Amino acid sequence: MQKSYTKNMKQHVYIETYGCQMNINDSEVVASILHDTGFEYTTDIQQADLILLNTCSIRDHAENRVFQRLHDIKKIRRQKKHVLIGVIGCMAERLRDQLFGHDIKTDIVAGPDSYRNLPELLLDAQSHKQAINVKLSRTETYKEIIPYRIDGVQISTFVSIMRGCNNFCTYCIVPYTRGRERSRDVQSILNEVLDTVKKGYKEITLLGQNVNSYNYDDNGSRILFPDLLRRVARLVPDTRIRFSTSHPKDMDDELLHVMTECDNVCKWVHLPVQSGSSSVLKRMGRTYDREWYLQRVAAIRKIVPEASITSDIIAGFSGETEEEHQETLSLMKEVGFDLSYMFKYSERPGTIAARDFEDDVPENVKTRRLNEIITLQKKISAECYENDKGKDFVVLVEGVSKKSDQELKGRNSQNKTIIFPRKHAKIGEYVTVRITKTNSATLKGEIVG
Ligand code: SAH
Ligand code: SF4
Ligand code: F3S
Repeated sequence: MQKSYTKNMKQHVYIETYGCQMNINDSEVVASILHDTGFEYTTDIQQADLILLNTCSIRDHAENRVFQRLHDIKKIRRQKKHVLIGVIGCMAERLRDQLFGHDIKTDIVAGPDSYRNLPELLLDAQSHKQAINVKLSRTETYKEIIPYRIDGVQISTFVSIMRGCNNFCTYCIVPYTRGRERSRDVQSILNEVLDTVKKGYKEITLLGQNVNSYNYDDNGSRILFPDLLRRVARLVPDTRIRFSTSHPKDMDDELLHVMTECDNVCKWVHLPVQSGSSSVLKRMGRTYDREWYLQRVAAIRKIVPEASITSDIIAGFSGETEEEHQETLSLMKEVGFDLSYMFKYSERPGTIAARDFEDDVPENVKTRRLNEIITLQKKISAECYENDKGKDFVVLVEGVSKKSDQELKGRNSQNKTIIFPRKHAKIGEYVTVRITKTNSATLKGEIVG
């Protein structure tokens, strides 16, 4: 039986999420666990009896934002003494009991694998004990917990298919904060997919740090990612399916064939390259080189020619020379990424890079290189988007455009945002839009047909 934390009065939990899509999904798992314990989810922090920050450690900046936020939240507790404050997620895992520090005033610290324990942690916190659980698990996937869908408009959502990461890219904190990689039970994924569609969602993104290494033993038969993707796509043929993230080292042709075979699998591959230089990739422990990456891109272009390709890029990794930086710029031109997420290298304590290499690219050089990467990406994106002019795309309408309520926004299969006059279209519908105008971040068009 679930322990009931709240007996008489309705209590409210407010969750603020930082970091990646996995964290967004985890917040929904947490909301679901707490809902069963009697907590209503609220989007109003002033109404909350429990405030949770679901945090990210990927870069120094991500952690600093959370410390700043904790500082602000202290003021709320000055007015409402009973409010409990919890830090959960990757920072909880990394910083552990340091988060009970004098100035921070955290009541609960829970790592990514201990959310089932939150009801007990709450009881401890209520009786003024230090409530902490940062144990990592080799098996936890929250498989039977149907996430409490937090977002207001029920159009697009995530289904987590695995947790953790075994890759240990030398710069990355994720294997330490999320633990070992484990694949979720296939039937529980299919159940959640069906439940999501029943709730009215039209698009599902299958999530994992490296979805291509999904590997589940289903009573003696091995299910790998291409099989899983095919099963999901066939189960809900009217729902769009996306997946993220693909690691270049094991994104194989079979996956690309499933993408073409299933119409409802979106033609978009997020394939983070990190650097265009083989020597930097080697220091990063990415286990592929420039040639391998380019050959994977060639395979995408050949097998799924209409696919868009996006990337993550790190500027100024340890020891990065000017020549190595130039190789990143040249790879970007060669591939022509539709879009990239671009970051300055931020050394993370405890990682292999922090131990073995010096973070020796000066801050001003990192900034200059990052700016060069951003400027180039903007130019390439603008060219990619310009190529879309005159084309017709099927767009899933997701909402009203920020600038005008006479315009709607949605995305095409390639994950590009498209804005268009609303006419009679409704949110949640598919419409065909002809592209008439472009810039480096959006496409604009008119509904046709
Ligand atoms: N699992 C995914 C990405 C997870 S983190 C993958 O392997 O691609 C998202 C992105 O953050 C990474 O792709 C990388 O570009 C960036 N990142 C990770 N650690 C970083 C660090 N220490 N400094 C700067 N960027 C980092
Ligand atoms: Fe980090 Fe590499 Fe794992 Fe991605 S694959 S989460 S970058 S260690
Ligand atoms: Fe951040 Fe943890 Fe995701 S470190 S990027 S929230 S896995």
